[in-house]
Amino acid sequence: MQEAAFKKIGSKAFYLTLELAPKDFSKFVKKISKSSIKGFNVTVPYKEKIIKGLHRVSSEAKLIGAVNTVFLKKGKLCGANTDAAGFANSLLKDAGFNPRGKNALVIGAGGSSRAVLYALGSLGVKKVFVANRTLSRAHVLTRKFSKVFARTNFEVCSLNVKELKSVLKEVQLVVNTTSVGLKRTDRYFFKASDIPKATAKCKILFFDLIYKPSMTVFLKQAKKRGHRILHGAGMLARQGAKSFELWTGKRAPAELMKKVLEAKLK
Ligand code: ATR
Repeated sequence: MQEAAFKKIGSKAFYLTLELAPKDFSKFVKKISKSSIKGFNVTVPYKEKIIKGLHRVSSEAKLIGAVNTVFLKKGKLCGANTDAAGFANSLLKDAGFNPRGKNALVIGAGGSSRAVLYALGSLGVKKVFVANRTLSRAHVLTRKFSKVFARTNFEVCSLNVKELKSVLKEVQLVVNTTSVGLKRTDRYFFKASDIPKATAKCKILFFDLIYKPSMTVFLKQAKKRGHRILHGAGMLARQGAKSFELWTGKRAPAELMKKVLEAKLK
């Protein structure tokens, strides 16, 4: 999708994938400012570790505690996080869902969850329940984000089915940020029958950050109960579009990038 976007703006840039061992990763970061590379993406397991090797880090990436995009500005390495923007744009553009004044349930309390919470706080969500297997991690996040987004009410919720069932009656958006669903054998947090049936008054959007498979059990269950669903390919394309803009200073052809990515995923 990045190369399709470079081509579209008439750039000769190309995008490589590199798998680096930890000792090579720090060497790579140190040498990069002397190369012709304009920037790069960072993924697991370096999104947190890279922060200390950068000259500047955006306030958003600092709060999320992870950098997924690095760009060079006057030889300085600048870190940003485009996952929050990718999620927000996918929610607004792919689902046409504006979360302002609404309630949400976010499952998971890792790096992806922090990006989602940042986006929801920025978009003016009224209340966010953060559910996680390890409750202490959810508490850390709700305390942290409550300080920054004072108008949003952040609450912790356990993965206990009874508690989840009652929260599902209160929310208009449910986001899965965990890796549960990547494997077909994964066990879910709740069953389809635990989800209230969709009615004209109660219609929930279920958003799974997973994009492969595009139809996870989480989404299948929600669909079965008549709710709206969205998988993570739109978010992936839109975080990439934001990275593209940081590297090139040009507007990204986001819809083209999404189309190319979706075709590849199929
Ligand atoms: P990422 O950066 O993709 O968010 P992460 O920081 O490792 O990855 O976070 C993974 C999230 O998935 C966590 O919320 C984790 O729960 P814990 O905090 O309890 O570890 C959640 N997760 C992973 N496997 C899970 C499982 N089998 N059941 C429930 N939650 C799971």
